[in-house]
Amino acid sequence: MNDPVRDWRRLADSSVLLDGFHALKHAVRFGAEVPLAVTTDRQAALALADELAPDVRDTLDVLLTEVPETTYVTLVPRPHPTAVAALAVRPSREAGLRALSRTPRAAPVVVLDNPRNLGNAGAVIRLAAGFGATGVVTTGTLDPWHPTVVRGGAGLHFATTVERLGVDELPPGPVFALDPEGDDIRGVKLPDDAVLAFGSERSGLSAELRERTDHLVSLPMRPQVSSYNLATSVAMTLFHWSAGGGAPLAVDDRA
Ligand SMILES: C[S@@+](CC[C@H](N)C(=O)[O-])C[C@H]1O[C@@H](n2cnc3c(N)ncnc32)[C@H](O)[C@@H]1O
Repeated sequence: MNDPVRDWRRLADSSVLLDGFHALKHAVRFGAEVPLAVTTDRQAALALADELAPDVRDTLDVLLTEVPETTYVTLVPRPHPTAVAALAVRPSREAGLRALSRTPRAAPVVVLDNPRNLGNAGAVIRLAAGFGATGVVTTGTLDPWHPTVVRGGAGLHFATTVERLGVDELPPGPVFALDPEGDDIRGVKLPDDAVLAFGSERSGLSAELRERTDHLVSLPMRPQVSSYNLATSVAMTLFHWSAGGGAPLAVDDRA
């Protein structure tokens, strides 16, 4: 007989934690392999699916196993209000590297140079998925597949490509690095094959990244304001790229 708790403990260390209904919904919608999903209330979870994600309702019906709340809280570090959690198979690094290095490219790659904040990284992955960017690359020590990042990204890691690389391993394409000292982005057309690089919340762009930079560009900002938040900077830049005629959104994600 199936024992979801035993299966969870066996798989947890090597899997991606999908914390909450929306993370599971997105992961399933974008083709993640999900071997296990639990909830404390199957009926409530399926009602949410009926309301918000009818396209994945049947898959969730098969996947979701109901467990007592006392069990659920032992499986996840920070129980989500939707009381849904699942484990997904992390896409292989080889496949990620292939996707990032493929040319010609129809949409930019976003590079976060040594980001420090897990929530920012999640928000950026969500943006990259929404704008149809080719992927998000992080440099430095932050794990872009950390459960808090996946939670912040609402499971949209599976809708783009997410890898950690060295600055010397960045994907091909002209590097447009964002910095308040750069040329005004409003006069710059960002090409579809751009590598869009953003600095760390603490110290901005590293010397290594600056050395790889082809164009330094800035977001309009009133004097005396030092900088924008990292994720909002990515949002403005991706919007600017898309407004210049960037690739149309390929996925109808109305739910
Ligand atoms: C919070 S800021 C970094 C602030 C940091 N204290 C510094 O010294 O640069 C994070 C990143 O967002 C981007 N950014 C923020 N404001 C920007 C602006 N006005 N123009 C271009 N990029 C900006 C840059 O890539 C920056 O490195």
